[in-house]
Amino acid sequence: MRILVTGSAGRLGRSTALGLAAAGHQVTGADRASAGLPGIDERLADLADDTAVAELLAATRPQAIVHLAAIAVPFSAPERRIFAVNTAIAHTVFEAAAAAGVERVLAASSPTVLGYGIADWHPHTLPLDETHPVAPANAYAASKLAIEELARMFARTTPTAFGVFRPCYVITPEEWAGAPTQQGHTIAERLADPALAAVSLFNYVDARDAADFAAAWVAAPVDAVDGETFFVGAADALAVRPVAELRVEFAPELGPAADALTGTAPVFSPAKAAARLGWRPRRSWRDEHVGGGDPASTAPPAAPPPASTAPAGRVGARRRIETLPGTPAASTPAAANPAPQPAPTESSLA
Ligand SMILES: NC(=O)c1ccc[n+]([C@@H]2O[C@H](COP(=O)([O-])OP(=O)(O)OC[C@H]3O[C@@H](n4cnc5c(N)ncnc54)[C@H](O)[C@@H]3O)[C@@H](O)[C@H]2O)c1
Repeated sequence: MRILVTGSAGRLGRSTALGLAAAGHQVTGADRASAGLPGIDERLADLADDTAVAELLAATRPQAIVHLAAIAVPFSAPERRIFAVNTAIAHTVFEAAAAAGVERVLAASSPTVLGYGIADWHPHTLPLDETHPVAPANAYAASKLAIEELARMFARTTPTAFGVFRPCYVITPEEWAGAPTQQGHTIAERLADPALAAVSLFNYVDARDAADFAAAWVAAPVDAVDGETFFVGAADALAVRPVAELRVEFAPELGPAADALTGTAPVFSPAKAAARLGWRPRRSWRDEHVGGGDPASTAPPAAPPPASTAPAGRVGARRRIETLPGTPAASTPAAANPAPQPAPTESSLA
């Protein structure tokens, strides 16, 4: 299948483009930057430009689009800009896809649409699944909810199939090996200090598992995906200790219901994608993280959280979602659309 991946120079886009190509698809990547991905036809385009997007689709004639391009870090730009840019890019790509007769479009949303991260948020059910009410608490999450609604609108009103996935905290192969994550800290630091992963309720997904999900989604019967939303997360929590043990100190908003999250159980359920698409996360931090189940073996000594980060579990704390104020990756608008990292090698991403 001819597949266009938008945001192909990004941390999720690189693995998604390579994963779809490895699954036998003919992949074009579209981004404002090139990542030098082997075997991928990378095109430079501003995806907010409707003329450029129409020309891109005419030139590459994709049968499916995986739409990832966005300002991907909450609070990394002025709130109004994050909302405007993310929704404008999505609408431009969706409208052009429908006009060009693209068969199906998969769009990236985010678990943050549920609204966790503010002091008075509490889960309605655990584990969290696609039936949980949404209540975005910042412009990034609101933009993602708007994108979900746009996808459902185009699914209802055009012959093109539109669907949504909510990838959990994306971890790339090079990040398992020690490269900084989206928030600037390393995985070793995230495992050593549960306050860091508590911000996203200990969720995560290996970027290659997310790519496998995209491959399963494009291959699924239209009825299984059109207008549907899927959480895409690992089968375990990104934590050394069970969430049931961590929740009082680090995630009190989960409440006593989280006492059922024993062992390695995650807060977010990937069950719908398994049931509908046959997709299951195959990778766990216990195998992928260099240092395995002993974060202390690779963690630097007692790295304190940024000074402006609210103490974990503090009553009344308003924790930011998928970002930590003051961290290098999230502190400037430019960081929202970072220049691509040095061209990754095939072996580093495959
Ligand atoms: N990384 C995560 O943990 C995570 C979690 C949940 C959802 N998501 C979503 O997944 C998607 C991918 O995230 P990511 O981590 O790979 O982000 P990223 O910032 O690494 O990549 C986003 C890419 O989009 C491109 N882009 C932005 N605006 C563009 C424009 N106008 N024209 C062309 N290209 C443009 C950027 O250049 C960048 O390469 C995003 O939609 C994000 O919101 C990511």
